[in-house]
Amino acid sequence: MVNGNGKPMKSRVSGFHELSADEKLELIRKFADLTDEDVELLRKTGALDMHKAEMMIENVIGTTEYPVGIATNFLINGRDYLIPMALEEPSVVAAASYAAKLARPRGGFVAESDEPVMIGQIQLVGIKDTKKAKEKIMLKKEEIFDIANKCDSVLVQFGGGVRDIEVRELETSRGKMIVVHLIVDVRDAMGANAVNTMCESVAPLLEEVTGGQKRLRIISNLADRRLARSKAVWGKDVLGEEAIEKILDAYELAANDQYRCTTHNKGAMNGIDAVVLATANDFRAIEAGAHSYAARDGKYKPLTKYCKDDEGNLVGEIELPLALGLVGGATKTHPIAKIAVKIMGVKSSKELAQLVASVGLAQNFAALRALATEGIQSGHMKLHARNIAVIGGAETKEEIDAVVRKMLEEKAINASRAKEILGELRK
Ligand code: MEV
Repeated sequence: MVNGNGKPMKSRVSGFHELSADEKLELIRKFADLTDEDVELLRKTGALDMHKAEMMIENVIGTTEYPVGIATNFLINGRDYLIPMALEEPSVVAAASYAAKLARPRGGFVAESDEPVMIGQIQLVGIKDTKKAKEKIMLKKEEIFDIANKCDSVLVQFGGGVRDIEVRELETSRGKMIVVHLIVDVRDAMGANAVNTMCESVAPLLEEVTGGQKRLRIISNLADRRLARSKAVWGKDVLGEEAIEKILDAYELAANDQYRCTTHNKGAMNGIDAVVLATANDFRAIEAGAHSYAARDGKYKPLTKYCKDDEGNLVGEIELPLALGLVGGATKTHPIAKIAVKIMGVKSSKELAQLVASVGLAQNFAALRALATEGIQSGHMKLHARNIAVIGGAETKEEIDAVVRKMLEEKAINASRAKEILGELRK
């Protein structure tokens, strides 16, 4: 990280955004001492080429890739789906597919989702009589609706737009504040752009009406009007009574212990995030919303619930906010995301949310079943061993299989042993 004069380079780079991708790369090459091979790999973009990537974010020097796997066996609301998942973790796609397979004999997943309604927040400060201000805002409801809806005539044309407003008074250490909630039906969009624009456009009127000053004008990622739910029954003939009891014990731990609950919810998010990522949706918004929703009662709780039905079968359920879009974001421009949507054949953001919730439930169930019975490491290690065999130099399927078999037998899964085994094999 030294320049031509041997001085350390600074990260303060003026005009970086104005450089071409090649020029940016050249600068980064010098800054980080990248090799020619590093630079070539960064240049070698895939379906998302440099130009498309530059339309999405700033200062682009390349793209990164995740494997996209297909979760099979999903039967949701009586329809068969194949579901693309993008992530780096072994076992997740296989586990979701397995859980979906085990759910099929009892009809698969029954899922539903709320109308795609988001909340936009406008913060107002410096108001003396917040009660009166609240009344005045409510009297201007129609005018506020009008201003907001004018921001997005296409959304209104498609049946969306502002549905309601709510005014909340907050007592804070910096005095009383008002937060106005714009409740907006965003149809098939994730909604951040539409809602943020609306919040900004109605804020001046709110200042005028209340005599206060606007501060934040932004969507809330706690999309608790846009929940998705899914339910499945795993039969006792499929799981066995003992496994069901063990799964219920596992669930109880999550319901009563935040350390476990975090990991429990992480398991569900493994599936949720992977579909969200495959469709180039905003996974940060989904993560923030999911965990906030899990803690909505002041205690962090599992996103899923399990119990036994009258016949002793295991019933699993999930509920979480899912602000997902099919239009207006990267989902419509990312070439692989577009194909992912095609593979699923989903026609609305509501349908997509039902699929994502079902994958979340399947993923969580699969983790609990494995953890409560044989443990997850045996399956995990097999896949891990395949990676290690490749790192050790195995090239053909035969070589990989043979190296994996030997490493598992010896319970020695590391790259140097893989290399040795490969050497012996090739002799
Ligand atoms: C690993 O990515 C996810 C699990 O830890 C989830 C869980 O413990 O329920 C297996």
